[in-house]
Amino acid sequence: MTRRFLFLLASSRSEGNTELLARRAAEQLPSDVEQEWLSLTEHPLPDFADLRHDSDHVRPTEGTTALLLDATLAATDIVIASPLYWYSVSAQAKRYLDHWSGWLRTPGLDFKARMAGRTLWGVTALAHEEQEVADPLIGTLSNSAAYMGMRFGGVLLGNGSKPGDVEKDAEALARAKTFFAQEAPLARFPYEADGDS
Ligand SMILES: Cc1cc2nc3c(=O)[nH]c(=O)nc-3n(C[C@H](O)[C@H](O)[C@H](O)COP(=O)(O)O)c2cc1C
Repeated sequence: MTRRFLFLLASSRSEGNTELLARRAAEQLPSDVEQEWLSLTEHPLPDFADLRHDSDHVRPTEGTTALLLDATLAATDIVIASPLYWYSVSAQAKRYLDHWSGWLRTPGLDFKARMAGRTLWGVTALAHEEQEVADPLIGTLSNSAAYMGMRFGGVLLGNGSKPGDVEKDAEALARAKTFFAQEAPLARFPYEADGDS
């Protein structure tokens, strides 16, 4: 299967540090890897309504939800490019993940089986110098990948507050060069032993 990366931009502003860092990393992808870029701010998802135990979710056929579902199913690799907001993913990114819960319950979609084996990645800018404050965001993405039976490529972190700041984070720019070339092992919950990939 040809690799196809879906970049989901989840900042509340365009051309911020997260997007910049994601674009630096994406520049290194081989030319035969397809890329699709979608802004979750320009394509806002409706608030997720939890119908899991009342009635079946129906497959969306139009609008942003259908656009994002189709883009998700078409991708081998999903990159959540979310700034660190209150130590976790942005609301836009979180809402997108919440919709996965609906897609998991949509008859005929086979969402979990189809997502299993695909790869989830993260790219994040944060103002804090100490990167461990991003651990909750990393845990959110890693555990979500584990739940879905997906691979997890890790989170590319860069420092910055105002747009463009991340250009001064030489270590982040260096990590961006090889980020997507890394092995992405099968995600595991923290209580599981490391398995092989
Ligand atoms: C709502 C909001 C919450 C934020 N929370 C944090 C945070 O918890 N930790 C942190 O280090 N920076 C935080 N920041 C700073 C952003 O992560 C930082 O400005 C980052 O560069 C924004 O990424 P962007 O340029 O891609 O939009 C926050 C910014 C906003 C607007």
